[in-house]
Amino acid sequence: MTQIAWIIYIPLQIIWLPVSILAATWVGYKQIWHSRKLGLSQTAVEIINGRWTAHIFGLRDDFAAKQLAAALPNNSTLGLRLTLFPLMVAKFIAGHPILYPTLPDDDQASIANLVFSRSARIDALIKTYCSQATQFVVLGAGLDTRAYGPLTTHNMTMFELDQPRIQKSKRDALARAGLNGDHVHYIEIDFAQPDWHLALRTSAYDPARKTIFLWEGVSLYLNAGIVHATLNSIRQISAPGSVVIADFYGERMLNLANKTAMKHTLSMTDEQIGFGLDLKTGPGDTLAALAVATGYKLGRYHLMGTAHRKGAFMAIAAFEVGDVPA
Ligand SMILES: C[S@@+](CC[C@H](N)C(=O)[O-])C[C@H]1O[C@@H](n2cnc3c(N)ncnc32)[C@H](O)[C@@H]1O
Repeated sequence: MTQIAWIIYIPLQIIWLPVSILAATWVGYKQIWHSRKLGLSQTAVEIINGRWTAHIFGLRDDFAAKQLAAALPNNSTLGLRLTLFPLMVAKFIAGHPILYPTLPDDDQASIANLVFSRSARIDALIKTYCSQATQFVVLGAGLDTRAYGPLTTHNMTMFELDQPRIQKSKRDALARAGLNGDHVHYIEIDFAQPDWHLALRTSAYDPARKTIFLWEGVSLYLNAGIVHATLNSIRQISAPGSVVIADFYGERMLNLANKTAMKHTLSMTDEQIGFGLDLKTGPGDTLAALAVATGYKLGRYHLMGTAHRKGAFMAIAAFEVGDVPA
């Protein structure tokens, strides 16, 4: 069936191309211009659209992302459907996605599949640690939907931290999407403020309990000083056995994101590329050095895209506080 899917997909995609281009332009317009107008994050929409796509194509279950993506004022899931329609037909025929979206092995991962690869590896790391943790803190939560899915069955106290405007807009969209956030403690913070952690400490958060901190898709937009200070602050308010699960980016990704057009697009919503790591030579040592410098032990990690001649573009790592039992 995969061959038949390709035979139908190629001419369909050619005929459909004008619709795909118009629909993708509409999605981009909503994502960039409406985010700018509303003072929201365009990168958060980019990520939830990746998770929406993964769900629609059967790559990863995320019903909440499907619902939330459709309830955002700065997004168009109809536009996404129209853009991806030929690939959806091909997936229907083949019984699995062809070409896009895909989930390659770590070494073969590409920037085009970044969100799919990242979500899957992070899900696996959360699964590894969640039997020991009783709190789950999403740092720079944006439109992340982990607190509204299967993780809710693990009885962890849940926290989402982000900038006030982003968080208010998310809560409004959650209500429109019919997703219940009553169990989530929403905390307004800005990592650029050195005392951001006080808001967490004075909430229902208990520093004596083992906690999973998820810091996904955020360090890239901060400078090195803030990344180091934030990791240090988290460690200081964490019980031994806690873990920070985070993604970090290599030069390959930074160079792409810093290209003029992308830089200009990001600047429209006051977002910019900041922190990166040298993932080309000795990436494991580089990650371990960051973990040690900020007071952690490097746990499991993934290096994505190592088959490329320029090395990995992304690392996903667990930074452990004190001893984490195996
Ligand atoms: C690309 S989004 C990722 C969102 C989410 N972690 C996910 O994976 O879906 C980046 C998020 O980081 C947040 N962020 C960026 N800079 C921040 C800062 N200085 N303080 C707090 N949050 C920040 C943005 O508001 C946005 O929600």
